[in-house]
Amino acid sequence: MDLSAIDLNHVPAHIAAVMDGNGRWAQARGLKRTDGHSAGEEALLDAVHGALELGVEWLTVYAFSTENWRRPTDEVKFLMGFNESLLVRRRDELNELGVRIRFIGRRDWRVPKRLIRRMNESTELTKNNTKLTLTIAFNYGGRAELVDAVRALNDQGKAITESNIEANLYDPEAPEVDLFVRTSGESRTSNFMLWQAAYAELVFIETFWPDFRRQHMADAVAEFQRRERRFGGLNG
Ligand code: IPE
Ligand code: IPE
Ligand code: MG
Repeated sequence: MDLSAIDLNHVPAHIAAVMDGNGRWAQARGLKRTDGHSAGEEALLDAVHGALELGVEWLTVYAFSTENWRRPTDEVKFLMGFNESLLVRRRDELNELGVRIRFIGRRDWRVPKRLIRRMNESTELTKNNTKLTLTIAFNYGGRAELVDAVRALNDQGKAITESNIEANLYDPEAPEVDLFVRTSGESRTSNFMLWQAAYAELVFIETFWPDFRRQHMADAVAEFQRRERRFGGLNG
């Protein structure tokens, strides 16, 4: 990975990635859409290596949105089984790399029990790792997350304040998103990290997710470092 354009002392603390374009990647090759999801596994592992080499400590990836239930049953079913088997295939490797695996999203009745079991096992196995927190957003929606947070505050009789909402997000420990990357040429957030990405730098790249490699992450970080973040104030 070419890191020459990067200041390793100022990498984003938290990168969020929308892993998009699996279906189009497959269709362009005359394959089934689900083959594109399978090919995305290698890209995810390479992205993890990229984050580790860059010294990025939080990486959150969008694996299944609250809106993805609208897809054909066969594809949804495939994605449930695929994500479950991916955890079984990869958790030891991720554990050895020092990756702490977490999940965000609604664990409602539509998410298979077997998958939830694998999620819990993966989190438990890797909970003491400190190099990188890889958060997998599954059955995740930014709107649902905010509704859940506000409902929790309501149930606890607490005031609706920014800090109270933050404390009731799915992972209150996760820092704000600094860099938001989406592959496949689409320039939208699709309900990902609505709260956390309020001041994120957005980087949209043309590459389909299965072709994403650690160098793309390095390039996105280089782009991030060229931006001027103002957070509503004035710089210099
Ligand atoms: C992203 O790839 C993976 C999921 C949404 C689960 P897509 O499946 O959205 O691929 P395209 O966007 O149709 O090419
Ligand atoms: C966002 O991609 C969700 C994931 C990558 C998991 P989509 O492909 O579902 O988003 P839209 O439909 O193009 O907005
Ligand atoms: Mg898509």
